[in-house]
Amino acid sequence: MAKGRKNGLYEGVSEELSSLMRTGWADSERRGTEPAEQAPYAAARRAALSARFPGERLVIPSGNLKTRSNDDTYPFRPYTGYVHMTGDQARDGALVLEPRADGGHDAYCYQLPRDSRENDEFWIGYTAELWMGRRRTLAESEILLGLPCRDVRGAAADLAAVTGVPTRIVRGHDPALEAAVSTDEDRDDELEEALSELRLVKDAWELGEMRKAVDSTVRGFTDCVGELSRAVASSERWIEGTFFRRARLEGNAVGYGSICAAGEHATIMHWTDNDGPVRPGELLLLDAGVETHSLYTADVTRTLPISGTFTPVQRQVYDAVYEAQEAGMAAVKPGAPYRDFHEASQRHLTAQLVEWGFIEGPVDRAYALGLQRRFTMAGTGHMLGLDVHDCAQARTAEYVDGVLEPGMVLTVEPGLYFQPDDLTVPEEWRGIGVRIEDDLVVTEDGHENLSAGLPRSSSEVEAWMAEFAG
Ligand code: GLY
Ligand code: MN
Ligand code: MN
Repeated sequence: MAKGRKNGLYEGVSEELSSLMRTGWADSERRGTEPAEQAPYAAARRAALSARFPGERLVIPSGNLKTRSNDDTYPFRPYTGYVHMTGDQARDGALVLEPRADGGHDAYCYQLPRDSRENDEFWIGYTAELWMGRRRTLAESEILLGLPCRDVRGAAADLAAVTGVPTRIVRGHDPALEAAVSTDEDRDDELEEALSELRLVKDAWELGEMRKAVDSTVRGFTDCVGELSRAVASSERWIEGTFFRRARLEGNAVGYGSICAAGEHATIMHWTDNDGPVRPGELLLLDAGVETHSLYTADVTRTLPISGTFTPVQRQVYDAVYEAQEAGMAAVKPGAPYRDFHEASQRHLTAQLVEWGFIEGPVDRAYALGLQRRFTMAGTGHMLGLDVHDCAQARTAEYVDGVLEPGMVLTVEPGLYFQPDDLTVPEEWRGIGVRIEDDLVVTEDGHENLSAGLPRSSSEVEAWMAEFAG
């Protein structure tokens, strides 16, 4: 008799039950698996990675399930570098690039294949297929991913068996595979840097996914405007739920915790409690993004007057942020230093804050000292893709000190935030937070605003609300 789980209601499994469970199942082989549309793009990404590390073995795990409590797990999120290099989202997988003598690599993928029905593994235990759903066979994975696939249950032994090959692994995702290889932490970090840098420029397939993410996000924002009166009767949670429904229906989920910040909550950069009231006369800052089934996310913000029109002070703040965003977007073009769009927006806001008398001029001095940061708080944008803050491990020289290239996707998101307890600004300014965030792709001759389907200027926003607000 096998041992039952703690506090399970059954003592164990009788031989008779075990053999009953193994019999009587229809053939569930899937025939007709097709290669993933993304497969050739993933192969090109692997070739670029291979060129960076001749003669070295590279191990890129997808990661394991994380227990939430007992037999409950968090939703699985594969490691971004693994997704990018394979197009796969399976747990317990790993991509291996095995070095060849000619300097290239042979790629293969470890996968956790289907559970056998010759024993009890398919039905006992909360990660078994009968509990969590069918997985792919190795043969199916090979067709889908365009990669040779092996059973991951042999991976640790395989990797430990071959010594003398310089190896790097991305740490922090699969302790068993890390234990099987002998690697150096700094060199492993270089692998992670490379994986981040290889995502800086999106390929054509990725740009298509970014468009899907943004288009769904635009629909999600329109849904939220249509539900405003219900949010007023309820709370910020109504907005969160409204956007989440769109995200789950059209994509995988939201790409990050939605920020549904009404009134003074708009001054809290990462407000995700979303449990406050939605009051007419105040602003609603909505920062949300749909993540596609392929895990690419949008990241868009609009700040809306809940009653449909901005008050004079709200409009003053809004228009300043809008102009700062215009200045920032104008600086997004190929060949421009990455820092340019940030500086263009921040300088504009600094000048505005000096003019309003909230910080001391002259503007150059205030900007050099960073005084505007009391009210602007964050940088003006970031790379976007599989991660909301994509490419975050890239070397500084390649990212913030780098130069924009066609195919890069980034946000431009200036904001002004006047804290409710800030005694340095007049009372009617306190508790106002405005951010406008769009997702731009750098093109050959400038940029395209992928989220241009949403109104941006104060008058466009008001007209939009007059048309759609429910
Ligand atoms: N939603 C996070 C950000 O805008 O960066
Ligand atoms: Mn955002
Ligand atoms: Mn952002």
